[in-house]
Amino acid sequence: MQELEISFVLNKKQYKLKVPSNITLLDVIREKLKLTGTKEGCGKGECGACTVLFNGRSANSCLILAPQADGAEIVTIEGLGDIDHIHPIQKAFVDEGAVQCGFCTPGMVMSSFYLLSKNPNPTDDEIREGLSGNLCRCTGYAKIIKAVEKASKELNAKN
Ligand code: FES
Ligand code: FES
Repeated sequence: MQELEISFVLNKKQYKLKVPSNITLLDVIREKLKLTGTKEGCGKGECGACTVLFNGRSANSCLILAPQADGAEIVTIEGLGDIDHIHPIQKAFVDEGAVQCGFCTPGMVMSSFYLLSKNPNPTDDEIREGLSGNLCRCTGYAKIIKAVEKASKELNAKN
């Protein structure tokens, strides 16, 4: 397979990599950069486990080919916060018990971040719609909705 050089900014850090032209951004993130917070569920755009911010919008990284990432700005869950600098959305998910197996959580948090950046005060229905591309097999969604509501309040109180 032909290799291409691509460069992009990920989590505010500049990268230049040689990658096979047929791999996905998800593979670049997980396999090449070893950032395993972004999960691979379905691999075909149906579960949202691989959600990242791509040029400011939430996107399924399993549907983006590596060459499309050339010149892009990308944020993964690791760029949002970590154990020492937890993001209010991550904290709200923990506080509300919205994490069970945790497999869907990074994608849920990234989609929630995008939703709240566009709509800081979403209704329950708007939260459900905003997260409609993210599947969770464990929680039944109620706690996830509560977590996003809580995060919304905390973020608004800070601003
Ligand atoms: S792994 Fe990308 S949407 Fe499921
Ligand atoms: S917490 Fe297990 S899939 Fe959502």
